[in-house]
Amino acid sequence: MLVHAITANIDYEFAADVRAGLTKPKQKELPSKYLYDEVGSALFEVISYLPEYGLTRADERLLQRHSNDIVERLPGPVSVAELGSGSGRKTRQILESLCRRQRTSYYPIEISRSALVMCERELSDIDSISILGFEREYLDGLLEVAAQRRAGHHLLVLFLGSTIGNFDRPAGVQFLAEVRGILQPGDSLLLGTDLVKSSAELLAAYDDELGVTAAFNLNLLVRINRELSADFDLSHFEHVAKINHWARSVEMHLRSTRRQKVHIRAAELSVDFAEGETIWTESSHKYSLEEVVQMARATGFRCDAQWVDDQWPFAENLLIAE
Ligand code: AVJ
Repeated sequence: MLVHAITANIDYEFAADVRAGLTKPKQKELPSKYLYDEVGSALFEVISYLPEYGLTRADERLLQRHSNDIVERLPGPVSVAELGSGSGRKTRQILESLCRRQRTSYYPIEISRSALVMCERELSDIDSISILGFEREYLDGLLEVAAQRRAGHHLLVLFLGSTIGNFDRPAGVQFLAEVRGILQPGDSLLLGTDLVKSSAELLAAYDDELGVTAAFNLNLLVRINRELSADFDLSHFEHVAKINHWARSVEMHLRSTRRQKVHIRAAELSVDFAEGETIWTESSHKYSLEEVVQMARATGFRCDAQWVDDQWPFAENLLIAE
């Protein structure tokens, strides 16, 4: 008879973050990075096709239309580092434009190994490209890329899709400053930012009719149930999108529809929920063009150019390190 050793494979960092977030005295919260397990990433991919959610398509259109203009503005030979490569679909445009000019090294940096593999597979057919993925947090990965920089080569860092919007404003500025600290004068950062739009448009985009965003958000509870042996009852939580006018953001929450107690065994935690109480799971900040110019200035960059989509207010901003 074959005896299988059953080893509980608990991610202690996940457990610690869940414990910290759900024991906050006022607003309970969970870090948005945990939305993106395999199911979550696939659901986000579906979100990007929803008519109500134009962000990803705007980002792709801009890169499709303007990648040659963007590349023309870059000085000399460049190597490309991307923070959060995703599937690699939108990066293709930029890389093809660059590879027409020079042999190009591309360094995707991504905490998800499956995303790295997908992106390498998607982009490896481009002529004159070499791809080396880093399974790292963004800044750790960027430090490694910068340390291996080739003499005479500038770095182009891609931070697309308005991922910066997940940070609150001070943290976003801090992040840009840290990126700048790793770069040298003349290096550049192509930053995608979703722009301010009406509350009605935002609510439709983050609480879509079909319920894909709701599933994306609720998947976090399913993930905690599975990976941390918890007993969230999905029928007693609902997805909510809220506008935060003060922060100029849209927030996703999970609302408890009744008084209840939840047990999370791997975090050795029981949590009480009042009826109507929420867990805050993600924020998506929206920017003005002028604000991006100022954030660049405040963090040691110069905003060299901005391209805005004509269907969905979204901007690609080319920042040059001074
Ligand atoms: C991938 C962070 C850009 O904020 O719009 C989409 C994530 N959340 N719908 C965003 C998201 C709900 C998305 N980002």
